[in-house]
Amino acid sequence: MSVVELKDKIYWVGVIDWNIRNFHGQTYKTKRGTTYNSYLILDEKVALIDTVYTPFSEEMIQKITKIVPPEKIDYIVMNHVEVDHSGSLPEILKLCPKAKVFGTLKCKEGLYKNYYFNMDFQVVKTLDKLNLGRKTLTFIEAPMLHWPDSMFSYLVEDEILFPNDAFGQHYATSQRFDDEVDQAVLMEEASKYYANILWPFSGLVLKKIQEIQNMKINISMIAPSHGIIWRKEPQKILNAYTSWAKNETKQKIVVVYETMWGATEIMAKKIVEGIIDCGIEVKLFDITKSDVTDIVKEMLDAKGYVIGSSTHDNDILPTITGFLEFLKGLKPKNRIGFAFGSYGWSGGATKNIENILKETGIELVQQGLSIKFFPDETEQKLCYDSGVNFAKSFV
Ligand code: FEO
Repeated sequence: MSVVELKDKIYWVGVIDWNIRNFHGQTYKTKRGTTYNSYLILDEKVALIDTVYTPFSEEMIQKITKIVPPEKIDYIVMNHVEVDHSGSLPEILKLCPKAKVFGTLKCKEGLYKNYYFNMDFQVVKTLDKLNLGRKTLTFIEAPMLHWPDSMFSYLVEDEILFPNDAFGQHYATSQRFDDEVDQAVLMEEASKYYANILWPFSGLVLKKIQEIQNMKINISMIAPSHGIIWRKEPQKILNAYTSWAKNETKQKIVVVYETMWGATEIMAKKIVEGIIDCGIEVKLFDITKSDVTDIVKEMLDAKGYVIGSSTHDNDILPTITGFLEFLKGLKPKNRIGFAFGSYGWSGGATKNIENILKETGIELVQQGLSIKFFPDETEQKLCYDSGVNFAKSFV
């Protein structure tokens, strides 16, 4: 794919990773692939904003070469140290060894620990400026969005925000802009990205958006480091981030369970029946058959979490235990929930799920439901009623 011009003399020189399916180890299933977005600005000085993941160095360099000989690059802005954005820095610096690199102090330290060579690096802070000639870059530190070194860059004259990971999506497409793709898919991937990467840092997200609003800058385009560029409606993703960061939810329940022999599954389905009969939106996931990345995305706008597990060795089954620990790390707020599960000779799972839900900050609005072996008709009715009761706490 060729280079794409965002605005006059500002180019996307990134790459599309169509086939990546696991990101951040195994923690994020990228079923639609991703892109690594790098941008080139031509002015009296030539600036490159971020690079791409290491295996794609040559492809990025070929794209840059179509626009300008790489040795003409004067400045490289590193908004973030993680290898999917810095991995090609060593290769590009071989071609423009006199280029000065800009980033936060933590970025400088991280780059050295990644690549073990010294470069001409200038540490920058919020509101520091880099004059390119007619155009000016302003830097905005953005620690923990999503790493300590993270930074945004803003191209003043063209009103483009380069926020690196923030506002991105793991979404490989031949299109580059928001007005060229299916909006439902775009927002699905943007929300999945927020839920799995930025949710724990929601307080900082809100502060950063407020800080940018206080700067009174116009943003006519948001060019993140993954996925689609927001040019038609940059406010759409800013509004979505504000809502997600405020932990705003809708009347929706997510039920996640793990079952040994099917009894807990019967309970789960009866609970869901009760919820559906109350007219509340619900999603049901068997954790052993589902993609955690998708489940977490569904939990982002859901008010209610219902978690179930059979009891095994007096405790929760291991797959759902891992999931609950992951969920705890995402720090969801303003949620309600309850626990359920089947047991054989002694219980334990339901109580332990409740303990983890409490530690996660989820309010338990009704007592957990434990049933010995398979639920009979009366017990199935109990499960159904639990679903009804829980759904009724929404209205
Ligand atoms: Fe896309 Fe934090 O790297």
